[in-house]
Amino acid sequence: MRNKILIIDDDADFVEAISLLLEGNGYMAIPAYDGKEGFAKAKKESPDLIMLDMKMAYKTEGAETAKAISSDAEIKDIPVILVTGIGKELTQKLKDVLKKEAMSVKKVIEKPIEGKEILKVIKNYIGGDSGQAHRELMKRISKFVDKWKDKKGNLVMILHEIQNHYGYVPRGVSFHLSRLLDVPLARIYEVITFYNFFKLSAPGKYMVSVCMGTACYLKGASELVDKLREVLGVEEGETTKDGLFSFQLVRCLGCCGLAPVIMVGEKIYPKVSPDSIENILSKYRKEKV
Ligand code: FES
Repeated sequence: MRNKILIIDDDADFVEAISLLLEGNGYMAIPAYDGKEGFAKAKKESPDLIMLDMKMAYKTEGAETAKAISSDAEIKDIPVILVTGIGKELTQKLKDVLKKEAMSVKKVIEKPIEGKEILKVIKNYIGGDSGQAHRELMKRISKFVDKWKDKKGNLVMILHEIQNHYGYVPRGVSFHLSRLLDVPLARIYEVITFYNFFKLSAPGKYMVSVCMGTACYLKGASELVDKLREVLGVEEGETTKDGLFSFQLVRCLGCCGLAPVIMVGEKIYPKVSPDSIENILSKYRKEKV
């Protein structure tokens, strides 16, 4: 199976040239000629990568499409390569804005672009061998499906296997699963979002767990939770934008005499106060732990 690349650009010549280049190098090119069509095809086709033109018929169409992709749980993990023709200075400004607001945008490249450069960027994000990654992925999912296909409630069990394997349920995997089981993608997302256990994005490098057991709760664990929300800028079950921390609430960690307790990765921190949170996390930010 070939990797799919969605090309969103109102310049039909550019789309055709890139499509020829990609098809000639083993990829499947999917053209879209405006942001709306591109967004719809991203949802329907679940491509492995999106090339998106910044400047289409109306000025902000590219940026708005990038933001829409970044905000949609089903497709936000698809890497977006933004193509611009707006000059170096504006491109830099754009990179700064998109870094904060459109997390799907992994790279901004300027037109004119050489074919070699495009292929290099694509390889960087979806691997060198267009078919190999997909074949391996399909093999792995087929194994999970074969194991559970005749059992009742198999979708949940297969998703458990996938979550245990990857630490979350990657978008591409849900898409393949939908085809293998002949279950609509929307149904798979319904199950994933119904159960707290399933995650749609990769967990952070460090899991920050706040103990909400009785002893910790009575000693102020909720204040630690509030402080962590403020410092990390995420809610429980989410991961920080830099991918460093995920944040979760847990039951008794088994050291109630040291309450309130938090755990970062494998390390337990005893008698934590809201004021000490920043200090604890800073060690991980410096990556010296
Ligand atoms: S209640 Fe927090 S460690 Fe037991």
